[in-house]
Amino acid sequence: MKYKNLGNSGLYVSELTLGTMTFDNEGGAYAGLIGATGQELATKMVNLALDAGINIFDTANVYSSGVSETMLGKALGDKRQDVLIATKVYSTMTTGPNDLGTSRLAIMREVEGSLKRLGTDYIDLYQVHSFDITTPLEETLRALDDLVRQGKVRYIGLSNFSAWQIAKADGIANLLGTEKFISVQAYYSLVGRELEREIIPASMDLGLGTLIWSPLAGGFLSGKYTREGEASGRRANFEYPPVDKEQGYNVVDKLREIAESKNASVAQIALAWLLHKPGVTSVIIGARKEEQLIDNLGAADIVLSEEEMKQLDEVSAIKPEYPQYFTPMKRGENLLSRFQNN
Ligand SMILES: NC(=O)c1ccc[n+]([C@@H]2O[C@H](COP(=O)([O-])OP(=O)(O)OC[C@H]3O[C@@H](n4cnc5c(N)ncnc54)[C@H](OP(=O)(O)O)[C@@H]3O)[C@@H](O)[C@H]2O)c1
Repeated sequence: MKYKNLGNSGLYVSELTLGTMTFDNEGGAYAGLIGATGQELATKMVNLALDAGINIFDTANVYSSGVSETMLGKALGDKRQDVLIATKVYSTMTTGPNDLGTSRLAIMREVEGSLKRLGTDYIDLYQVHSFDITTPLEETLRALDDLVRQGKVRYIGLSNFSAWQIAKADGIANLLGTEKFISVQAYYSLVGRELEREIIPASMDLGLGTLIWSPLAGGFLSGKYTREGEASGRRANFEYPPVDKEQGYNVVDKLREIAESKNASVAQIALAWLLHKPGVTSVIIGARKEEQLIDNLGAADIVLSEEEMKQLDEVSAIKPEYPQYFTPMKRGENLLSRFQNN
């Protein structure tokens, strides 16, 4: 397992993170849609991840209405000091006017709930789960800065922000002199490459690390969904993230071809492609079953050649959008030559 600095921070994270969105032993909404992993299997998964060298675990206050945090805390037990816990704030399980979002009020309340459920007195990476359109970023940043001063939070990150929102948050933190976000958690997969347009370039330029969610597009890139028929699994009832199926099946065909040539699984090649992409710090792997986790952990050992990366890049390419196709990649490049066939 490789370890990388998370953005411009001094924190080292493993290139695979264990996601715990499937942990739900109380039969809530997540159990129905995403996974109903009980405590025994959750503890086993955490130990498998630790044995493989994973040092960072991702959860959220809202996952299974707090159950995922509780189960992760129990699974880690006395190993908590040796690992990094990443959790999130924004969504809530209740619907009061001040419940949702990242106001000072919400953050101060939610952090106490997360600490209690996780059974810890600090959170290593506290992530804003989504951009709050009604709360000024100044208020959110000052509240998060206070949590760092109080020792309840070590580092702060953000998730699901657009590039301008990331840049705005970074600029405001610079102006205020508050803690800065060190990481972006975003969706990226071979069937979802939109973040290559703006989010990855912005993160790299500003020195934020990235944690990649749904790297298999909710299981689509495991290879079990085919043109011929749908397999059972999360996507059978919950088609998220959205996938362009026609292009997606072509991607899976190419993954299968490369997987067979390397005696690897389709999922391993899909995860390895992400691990080879510029700007990716850590890929958050999710699993509902022990064998899926063991399979996905094997991705850290896969080396893809330049040719294999090129083939996967080509089959999964997204349409260039303005202004990227107008912006020269290097000095002196003749833009028109990109659109000429010869
Ligand atoms: N920040 C955010 O907004 C956000 C959003 C989503 C997720 N996340 C984080 O990212 C983590 C991973 O997301 P994800 O669960 O959506 O990841 P994913 O890798 O795209 O999907 C995981 C699901 O795919 C199936 N699967 C995984 N490995 C497999 C394998 N080797 N063979 C066959 N099927 C396999 C399993 O579901 P089935 O068995 O049901 O098919 C598994 O639960 C989450 O736990 C969470 O920590 C964050």
